[in-house]
Amino acid sequence: METEACEVLYRFFRTASEYIEGYRGDAPYPESFAFTGDSTSVVAATGAAVNTECAAAYPAGTGNEQSGTGKAAFTGLAGNSGFVADDSFAESAGGSASGGMYTETVGGSSETLFRSMQEIYAAVAQCSACVLGRTRTHPVAGEGPEELSRLTNSVEVMVVGEGPGADEDRQGRPFVGRAGQLLDKMLEAIQLSRKTNCYITNVVKCRPPQNRDPAPEERSCCAAFLDAQIRLLRPKMILVMGRIAAQHLLQTSDGIGKLRGRFFDYQGIPLMPTYHPSALLRDESLKRPAWEDLKRFRARLHELQAQG
Ligand code: URA
Repeated sequence: METEACEVLYRFFRTASEYIEGYRGDAPYPESFAFTGDSTSVVAATGAAVNTECAAAYPAGTGNEQSGTGKAAFTGLAGNSGFVADDSFAESAGGSASGGMYTETVGGSSETLFRSMQEIYAAVAQCSACVLGRTRTHPVAGEGPEELSRLTNSVEVMVVGEGPGADEDRQGRPFVGRAGQLLDKMLEAIQLSRKTNCYITNVVKCRPPQNRDPAPEERSCCAAFLDAQIRLLRPKMILVMGRIAAQHLLQTSDGIGKLRGRFFDYQGIPLMPTYHPSALLRDESLKRPAWEDLKRFRARLHELQAQG
């Protein structure tokens, strides 16, 4: 393993352990680690596996299969929202910074929605489509570098979590509590940051009371927002934190243990689920597989960056 990779890995484990120790009062983490395998072989193994996984995960006709831009690429992902991208979005998704444009088909006629992130934020702020909108303190729409809200194709990675917790509900910002601080460290370990190149959001934009899982109907209510955010920003890759978000985006009941570390195709965007930082805080043994996932994710991102 390269020295630099070792250092990054070590930093990540230390960081995760600090949080875990703070949380559970465990003994100090060992000063050094022995690792087997290297990042090059992980990358090399990725190519073949990705295609197989994508094909298996997205049988033709589900709407999740590999496809180009335009309506066919998006129809399966909107769940109950009826969202489809129109031709002008297909153009913007191809690289224009003019912003996405979305139409919702309602009773045979089409209505244009969400031309900008600001429009999404405004709609989230007013939403009371499900019970979560009535119990929240603040909506938590998402967060990234300022300019992301204006530019399409400007974000490297979108991170998708489950839903706001108590801290997020108080502040109106995603991933700001203990799990959020660990998430920031995980991202930093692969050169990502919400300040520069990464947009962070959740499946549901309002806090489920007592931090319960968001119900399927609550996720459906919010699906149009996340869908529009992805189409507007058009990230190079999507990192999905935890079971709920992974099951929602991939429309599967498979557990996170099965989904994590694999690449899936989401509207032509490589998507990888991994363990939620809260899970790492609860279970130290998940740190190593989480780091393996992040390394694979980073390698794929570097490939895409090299392609331009
Ligand atoms: N957990 C999540 O999934 N999202 C947040 O924003 C915070 C904690």
